[in-house]
Amino acid sequence: WQSIRTGQAVPAGSHVRLNLQTGDREAKLPDSENGKSDPREERRRKRLGKVDIDSNSFTSQELKKALAKMKESEKAERKAHEEEVRKKFRPIEQLKEEFEKLNVKMETDYEIMVKLISKFNSSASTLDEKVAALYDLEYYVHQVDNAKDFLSMGGLRLVIDGLNSTEAMLKEHAAFVLGAALS
Ligand SMILES: *[C@@H]1O[C@H](CO)[C@@H](O)[C@H](O)[C@H]1NC(C)=O
Ligand SMILES: *[C@@H]1O[C@H](CO)[C@@H](O)[C@H](O)[C@H]1NC(C)=O
Repeated sequence: WQSIRTGQAVPAGSHVRLNLQTGDREAKLPDSENGKSDPREERRRKRLGKVDIDSNSFTSQELKKALAKMKESEKAERKAHEEEVRKKFRPIEQLKEEFEKLNVKMETDYEIMVKLISKFNSSASTLDEKVAALYDLEYYVHQVDNAKDFLSMGGLRLVIDGLNSTEAMLKEHAAFVLGAALS
């Protein structure tokens, strides 16, 4: 194997590889007899972390570009997701601000969760009310402090029991809350 410089021509049919440790491209003439790769050479290459690259398909420059593009699209995806989450929760923050301006006392998350849990736990609540309570709880338990409170209030136990409900809607929403609280 011999190192080759960028743009350097190699004879047609040469083996070309990218040495991932040094970043160099290396080339050698094909084995004349059968063209098959030597299994010992194959193993050695694997051990050294080298990868064969067909010089006709990719230059190292192109590979670098492709890698950069992959990173970019990953970043863009993450940004889009953050944006989506922000959009979803901004109205609630605005609502809080507006309430504060009006000097209305806002309930703490803790107080709200106590109410939602007792709504869910009450035998006087309808199925729809219970489902709605779970749906709202799911929003609160995303925050780690709320999730800890949820556990100490006995909410987690209730929701786990809810997984055994005969009502599919309750099961589904109990699982929904449980997932958020556990994460
Ligand atoms: C749920 O209701 C039962 C019976 O009314 C009560 O014993 C229990 O403490 C309640 N659990 C929670 C977490 O409020
Ligand atoms: C759900 O019901 C099954 C069968 O009655 C029982 O073995 C299991 O412990 C229950 N799980 C919960 C979380 O209550």
